[in-house]
Amino acid sequence: MRVLSAESPTPLRAVAPLLLDWYDRHARDLPWRAPPGTPAMDPYRVWLSEIMLQQTTVAAVRDYFLRFTGRWPTVEALAAADDAEVMAAWAGLGYYARARNLLATARAVARAGGFPTTREGLQALPGVGPYTSAAVAAIAFDRAETVVDGNVERVVARLFAVPTPLPAAKRELGTLAATLTPAQRPGDFAQAMMDLGATICTPRSPACGICPLVEPCAARAAGIQSDLPRRSPKAAKPVRTGTVWVALDAGRVLLERRPPKGLLGGTLGFPTTGWDGTDLPAPVAATWQDMGEVRHVFTHFELRLRVLRAAPEPAAVPGRGDWTQRSGFDAGALPGLMRKVWTLAR
Ligand code: ADE
Repeated sequence: MRVLSAESPTPLRAVAPLLLDWYDRHARDLPWRAPPGTPAMDPYRVWLSEIMLQQTTVAAVRDYFLRFTGRWPTVEALAAADDAEVMAAWAGLGYYARARNLLATARAVARAGGFPTTREGLQALPGVGPYTSAAVAAIAFDRAETVVDGNVERVVARLFAVPTPLPAAKRELGTLAATLTPAQRPGDFAQAMMDLGATICTPRSPACGICPLVEPCAARAAGIQSDLPRRSPKAAKPVRTGTVWVALDAGRVLLERRPPKGLLGGTLGFPTTGWDGTDLPAPVAATWQDMGEVRHVFTHFELRLRVLRAAPEPAAVPGRGDWTQRSGFDAGALPGLMRKVWTLAR
């Protein structure tokens, strides 16, 4: 089934020129990008965008990126920022370990006097794994590294008609992707693969009629492009349950900062029980009203929290959390889970 090979009418080495030529005309205009073919962007902006784009869509990241770079225009400025301010600016983007690692990396880079310029050096930074190190090395430092995200896996699975299902196919797809990476303009090539996957080689109904790689595409030749990549059936996510308490009166709301490590670590929200079955006491003595349940999907489980609300006596002393003035309280600065809780409780 492999149509694309060294002997095929469109040889492997033609893929990068075809794609770069398309990218020169159709690259998406994104705030962290240098225009195609121009000198690379500031590594700070490349790194920041790639951290934000992990598990998060371009549409969701755009405004956060502009806000962060407006407020902290250099890695030194971010390194000097207050932890709580950065956590608050990150609120709503999800996967909060990224924000903690962001600060740790900014401080390490500021101390070192600049970003490492190799994939290996980059990967030693907190929160920088194989994907991000390859992306920053290619895009900011013009290294011929191969960047493989979900979009790239899909493009490669189709181009080579790889029948192996994901996730087992990951290594094979990475190896095939590496055979395409050019020595010239590897950063543009990486971003062109992502753009192709995001705009043309989409999961359902790929737009093969306008695809620059239609000619060498093995899946298209066999008419199976919409069936690839195959995927092994997913195991259902386990469900965990707990309780969240929203204590408020006309002027105040009771908030608690989560411990620095673990899910939503370091973020502000309403006091909850543990999410692994551990009981924790209600934050304050009150008569609680059941407001219903919120559901939130994390990477490895689904969380269902029973939302209890009360207006405690003014003299009641909380055993957990702190009273916050409602005038200074911005629910928009809470993580998504806690925003759902607030919407249900008020
Ligand atoms: N997703 C992750 N990184 C990206 C980039 N540099 N351009 C477009 N989409 C991306």
